[in-house]
Amino acid sequence: MKARTCWEGVCTVADLVPESGVAVWTAAGPVAVFYLPHRLPALFAISHTDPFSGANVLARGITGDLKGEPVVASPLYKQHFSLVTGQCLEDDTVAVKTYPVLLDGETIRLEVPISQSESAVA
Ligand code: FES
Repeated sequence: MKARTCWEGVCTVADLVPESGVAVWTAAGPVAVFYLPHRLPALFAISHTDPFSGANVLARGITGDLKGEPVVASPLYKQHFSLVTGQCLEDDTVAVKTYPVLLDGETIRLEVPISQSESAVA
């Protein structure tokens, strides 16, 4: 069965922190939304859960740029994750989920999967 998705509103522009992440709760679980005002696109969304520790911490990581790739460093063990692909740069076998993100007026929306029961009432 093909997963259906919706563009869930998760926060507003006023909630964003330049060069940093904010954690939001979505139908797909906790997601970290990053705002890098000097890039295009400027918004990125990846899972908030650090796959190495299982802790919800990635939104609090320090952002940076490695060879042109926007990344966040996990605050726990310092692995870097691409904000574009979710790939861990220190371990090819590990990646975090990424989510399409868009600005809809003042609302930040993420494309997340919805369950069959939710889609029935949408
Ligand atoms: S469009 Fe999001 S739950 Fe229906």
